Amino acid sequence: MDKYIIDGGEKLYGKLQAQSAKNTVLPLLAAAVLTDEQVKIRGVPSINDVENMLLILSEVGCKIKRMKGCAVIDSSNAVSHEIPARLTKELRSSVFMLGSVLTRFRRARISYPGGCDIGLRPIDLHLSGLKRLGVTIVEENGYIDCRADKLVGAEILLDCPSVGATENIILAAVKAEGTTVIRNAAKEPEIVDLQNFLNAMGANVKGAGGGTVVIQGVKTLHGLEYTPIGDRIEAGTYLVAAASCGGEIEINGVPAENIAALLHKLRENGCKIYAKNDKIILSSDGKLKSVHLVETSPFPGFPTDLQAQYSTLSCTARGTTLVVENLFETRYKYAGELRRMGADITIRDRTAIIRGVEKLHGAYLTASDLRGGAALVLAALKAEGQSTVTDLSHIDRGYADFECKLRKLGAKIRRVRI
Ligand code: UD1
Repeated sequence: MDKYIIDGGEKLYGKLQAQSAKNTVLPLLAAAVLTDEQVKIRGVPSINDVENMLLILSEVGCKIKRMKGCAVIDSSNAVSHEIPARLTKELRSSVFMLGSVLTRFRRARISYPGGCDIGLRPIDLHLSGLKRLGVTIVEENGYIDCRADKLVGAEILLDCPSVGATENIILAAVKAEGTTVIRNAAKEPEIVDLQNFLNAMGANVKGAGGGTVVIQGVKTLHGLEYTPIGDRIEAGTYLVAAASCGGEIEINGVPAENIAALLHKLRENGCKIYAKNDKIILSSDGKLKSVHLVETSPFPGFPTDLQAQYSTLSCTARGTTLVVENLFETRYKYAGELRRMGADITIRDRTAIIRGVEKLHGAYLTASDLRGGAALVLAALKAEGQSTVTDLSHIDRGYADFECKLRKLGAKIRRVRI
């Protein structure tokens, strides 16, 4: 068990390279079992979610090599269609294994997935999509048992543009007989990257990013080497940190259009932002004005995964900010911790009413989920005095070298063993 000790009040200056996107790497790892040939993914971040996904692949029978930031997956000897509860409870993305393992073995047995405790997080859309492809699903004792003599393409309309359901259905359809059309598909950049990855394996997937994805089933897929896109949520977290603390930072590896909704709000807050290709430069005097309303919504809207970090920034912006969380029910757990630092934040159902205060003060803080945990670190960087942030395992799920990267920008943060 580690904790962060943070001395707040420093402005942030410097350059960072974004890690590969967690939310791309996870489905790509699941996709590796679609072929017998070797899959090499470059720039795989050392974060707990990735390590857990690699453990799941090992459990299925894949051989994994990790070297110089790459993950090499050889699934030629994959034998198991079952993913045990002890691994799925750690990681919601274990659910992607349903689509790819089904494609590989015509059977997949998986216990209900875990992940961040931020709401109900049902998987009904994943399962109804798979049923449309000809899968029979039996749910018993917390396990989902899926079987299909063959997978057959179908028209699928998602009730809401779920990222995971879109990815899972693509993974199950990629070698199905005939054509699958997913309407109201999620448009996130990570879906586009999955499409590019699968097409580089020999698949025929079109339309990702546009709301309708068309998958023409192919007979075989082959191995490949691939570099995933940069992590827009990680990049956004550092940009919010610099906006809030003041300073000037440059982030490389994420095109501005992938976090346009955040950049738009930060400009309204008073930050100066320059973006070209995949470089974003932000400067801020740390004295921000509030924006009236921020609502999370599917891409290209404001990402729910940046809601906590942005709310933290709003705590010391001049004026009142209304934040509405439209995707997950209980994504304000961090708010109680911010209040202990002097923040004026009231939660009513899905809305946070944040009245800007002059300053936050250091406190003893406990992270309770990945992005909420990162938000507490940002609050501590802005606060006067010293803070402690515990339960770092949540933050370690998604940020590689978090404290090192922040220190590189000039933050006073250290990690100590409890
Ligand atoms: C993914 C991201 C997560 C992000 C989220 C929303 C990964 C690994 N995780 O999660 O970081 O916060 O997108 O951008 O990519 N829903 C249903 N039924 C379903 C599935 C989803 O009702 O079967 C609902 C959810 O409750 C939620 C909304 O759809 O309200 C969006 O969820 P979804 O896009 O599926 O999120 P995840 O794929 O779990």
